[in-house]
Order: sequence, then structure tokens, then C-alpha cells
Amino acid sequence: MNTLMRRAQQLQHWRTYCIKQCAVAATGNETAAKGKPSYEQFIDSRHQQAERSIVVQVSSEKSYNELYNYCSRFGHIVSAHHYTVQHEDELHYLLLEYANASDASAAIDSSAHSGELSGSTSVPVRSSFLWFRAAAAAAAGGRRSQAKLSAASAQHKTLPLTTVAGTQSWAPAQLQLLLRGAKSIEEQLQLLYEHTRLNDLGVRMRFLAALQVQRAIAGMFPGARAQPFGSSVNGFGKMGCDLDLILRFDGGATAAATGNERELSRLVYHTKENLSNGRSQTQRQMECIGDLLHLFLPGVCHVRRILQARVPIIKYHHEHLDLEVDLSMSNLTGFYMSELLYMFGELDPRVRPLTFSIRRWAQSCGLTNPSPGRWISNFSLSCLVIYFLQQLRQPILPAISALVKAAAATDIRVTEDGINCTFARDMERVAFGSRNTSSLSELLLQFFEFYSQFDFHNRAISLNEARALSKPDHSAMYIVNPLEPLLNVSKNVSLEECERLRIEVRNAAWILESEVENSTLTEQERHEQSWGLLNLFKHPEKAVIRPNMFFKPRMVEVSDLFEKAQHSNGASSTPSINYKN
Ligand code: GTP
Ligand code: MG
Repeated sequence: MNTLMRRAQQLQHWRTYCIKQCAVAATGNETAAKGKPSYEQFIDSRHQQAERSIVVQVSSEKSYNELYNYCSRFGHIVSAHHYTVQHEDELHYLLLEYANASDASAAIDSSAHSGELSGSTSVPVRSSFLWFRAAAAAAAGGRRSQAKLSAASAQHKTLPLTTVAGTQSWAPAQLQLLLRGAKSIEEQLQLLYEHTRLNDLGVRMRFLAALQVQRAIAGMFPGARAQPFGSSVNGFGKMGCDLDLILRFDGGATAAATGNERELSRLVYHTKENLSNGRSQTQRQMECIGDLLHLFLPGVCHVRRILQARVPIIKYHHEHLDLEVDLSMSNLTGFYMSELLYMFGELDPRVRPLTFSIRRWAQSCGLTNPSPGRWISNFSLSCLVIYFLQQLRQPILPAISALVKAAAATDIRVTEDGINCTFARDMERVAFGSRNTSSLSELLLQFFEFYSQFDFHNRAISLNEARALSKPDHSAMYIVNPLEPLLNVSKNVSLEECERLRIEVRNAAWILESEVENSTLTEQERHEQSWGLLNLFKHPEKAVIRPNMFFKPRMVEVSDLFEKAQHSNGASSTPSINYKN
């Protein structure tokens, strides 16, 4: 009940916010990119935030004051967040952010190992994941800490605790309630976005997971960087989304290609020779990293190695963060592609809410599926939305070629396998402004109408050129990979699935048109029945598990791969990232 009341208050807050956002979108006057952090700045600031943070398991939210007082001895706490994880019981966690990384380090360094306390044989690993034991147990733990304990009893003025009702996606019933309470389809679209997108705490938790991996190997690889990418950072992620992580020993993901003093050094490290086959090298290193995660890192469980996929990955669950992680060590293009998506999302405030509603719609009618297969992926869907927004008579997004042309020397990025990911990072250089004043609901309808007419049979979609090209092969759906133009992002999509997409977009256009025409419901009627987007999301309660209407999904390539992975690793595994292009 409390949660519902909290939701109602949030709703009121968001109503005001949404009206403001719609006004911005409609006038198109605000250059969204102005004054906003670049992707790299955003990533760096979140990494630093993780370094200043600790996560402490507590018995309940009520422990907050005591924990706050105790932890304040190590430094100034600037924010505090409470979340729960559903295990056998409900587990409570507090994420504390300090003003400085050294404060968080001091808190971590002061912590005891449970083995020391109980005489058990747990692995004594240093990490940001801690638990808060009862004061009596701590006092009995050693007389020598007596002085410190009395210092802890000094009272600090407690900071307000940000309690997040959840870090997982909303239950369909809650979403129904929320969307029924809106005044228009336009407002429904904004509410859906604001309430289902990954929240601040979700982002913090994902960067803490990255930092844990990075720190685990920092002794041998001080320059290592575990870099989140994909929907966790590109602004298109929803609550509960997986974390895509790329681990680089040399931190190459964000290092700009500038001159380096080391090139002039006469001292050179002795190192091990790499295997001549880069792929086998990566696979062997990943096996080793998989063991390290499995054996030593607190919170990491269900480690699975999918090393035969085009991009080999390790999947695992993090039980303190309630998070699924896909860790890779090769293919930086996914990281740079996330940067492009981030920039497009920042450029116009309509891009993300529109993409959210389309992803939700696709999920509700079973067009997308959490496991990879012959259906369209969320990434391909995002590409469809971007292309739609590029090809409008008054475009809302520029062609990627415009970003490439406007690139400066500092924008040069080439991956180690030679893929050129150079494009302007500063949107001011691209000098793109849209005069399109369509509302979100108008754009949604236009999206469905556009793709119900699109000639998937003969045409390929190019985001680089913002136009359709002749299709170079017989794939059912062809979206030119923006960073590797010889590849097709949607190569995996079968003819049946492509046809089903066409049928569903036609249905959606029809439903939405009737909803717009029937927009004369009274306030009471709107609260009592499904309307607007709710009628578009036909079966939200079955969203994830709804089977394919035309045929039983058979993941031929994937199950093949799955078997191979099991064979080579002796581990049970479910494949995930496998860019089939
Ligand atoms: P969800 O995980 O479904 O929420 O979306 P996601 O955007 O994270 O997609 P996914 O986990 O499948 O992929 C992670 C990121 O890798 C995407 O955001 C893209 O940046 C990138 N990516 C995915 N598929 C491709 C592809 O076919 N080619 C390239 N170059 N990048 C891809
Ligand atoms: Mg992802």
C-alpha cells in the first residue's frame, strides 16, 4: 500500500515534469546536446562515483541511522540509497556514496573478514560489498578497537535516505494503474519512459559491478578497465536490464589516440608472448577470468562461459546487485555503437520515450524475446526507430555520415581489429537542428505507418546515409551495421519474423488511429478501463513468455553454439550477445 502511495506521489511529480518535456519537444527550441555531458564524461563520472561508493547489507531499512553514524567516521557521506533484493527472504542493502574515493577505501580497509570473526574458511577478498554486524558482536570482536567504537557513537546529522521502491521492472498491474491515470496518450508515453527507464540507482549498481571486476585484476593490470556499454549506459535501458561489460587489460576503451611518453621510453616491459590466434588467446584468457570471478568475487554466482560465440562472453549473476552480467573481452564496436545511441538519445528529448514505447510494444506482442534467435533484437529495433527519425521530411536525427564528416582529430578511434569508429563526439560541430514539431504520439503513429509500407523485400536500411539502399543479399531484413558497413545488424531475422513485424506494425497503426479518434473518455472512464497505449500493449502480463504465433522458436545456431560451449567448458550456459552479422 505504501508503495502504491509513493507511486501516486511520484506520478504527480512526473506529470509536471512531462508537461515541461512535451513543451520542449514541441517547440524544438532547445538544443538537447547543449551543456550536457559527453558520453565519455558521463562514463568517467559514473566510474568515479563507483569508486566513492560502498554497498552494505543491513537487516532492514531501520539500520540506516546506525550505519550512517558508524560510516561517517571514514568521511563525508554525500548520498545514501536503499534497495532490496528478493532472495529466499527480502534482503536489504544500503549504497553509501562518500565525497572522496579515499573515504570509501578507508571504510573498506577497516572491514573485517567473516573468516576472522567466526573461524570459518571464507576467501578473504577485499571488495566494496560489505555487511553490517550487530554492535554487540563487533564489541566482542576485540578490545583493541574500543577507542574507535566510542568514536562511532558520536551522532551525525543523518542525510535523507533515497529509498527506491525497486530496481527491477514494474509489474504489469502497476503499469496499468500508472498509464490509466494519465490524461492523454502523449502523457502515457512520457510516463512509460520515466517510470520504466533505468534509474540512477540502477546505473550506480552497474558501475559498482564493473569496478569489482576491474579491481580484481588491478594488481597485474593496473591499466585495466571494465567498461559498461549497451542499454546500461546508452539511455535506452529499462529497469532490470542486463549489464553488458567489456574488460580491457589496457583500458583502451576510452583512451584517446594521442602521443605517449611511453613510446619514447628506453625501458620496455618483459611480457609473455601472445598466441598467434587472437581468438584462442581471448578464449583462454576468458576461461581464466571466469574462474577468477567464480572462485573469488563475492556476490558473483552462476558463472557460465559462452566462448564459442562470435563475441565470446562470460555470463553471471550478481546476488548483491540482483543483476545479470554479460562480460566480453573483445569487440569494442559495441561500446562505440552505444556511444552513438547515447548521442542520438541526447540530441532530441523525443528519441528515448519513442524508442521505449516501441520496445515495449514489440515485447508485448512477442516480436522480441530475451534470448537471441531469429526474431528482431532490441538493438535492431532501436536502429529502425533511428532510421525512421532520420528519413522524415523534417528529420529529427542526422545521418551518421554527417557525424563522420564533422569529426575532429580528437575523435579518431580505431579498434585493435582495425574498425574505424571515428565520428564527431561534439554535436555542436555537426550543427544539426530539427524543425520537426511533431508530438510523441504523432511520431509513434507515423513510425507504425512508415514500417507497414516499407519494402523490406528489396531495400536495406542505412543509418549512415539516412536512406534506403538496394539490398545486397537475400536476408529477410537488412540494416547496414553503422560501424561495419559490410555487415547486416538484423541478419538473424527470419522471413516469418519479418513478415510478422509487418503485420504487427499494421495492426498497431490501426489500433493507435482508433485510440486517437476515441479520445473522448471522461476522467473516470480513463481510470476504469484500458485505453491508449494499454490497448497497444495487448498482453503485457504475458509479455516475456508469449510464444511465437507462427512457429515454435527453434534456436538452431544458438543451441548449436550452446552445445559447443557446454562441451568445451563443462558448464551449463545460455548464450547471449552474439552479433549475428
Ligand atoms: P537490451 O540488452 O535488450 O536492453 O539492449 P542492448 O542495447 O543492451 O542490446 P544488447 O545487449 O544486445 O547489445 C549491447 C550493445 O552492443 C548495443 O547497445 C549496441 O551498442 C551493441 N550491439 C548490439 N548488437 C550489435 C551489432 O549487431 N553490431 C554492433 N556493432 N553493435 C551491436
Ligand atoms: Mg544489453
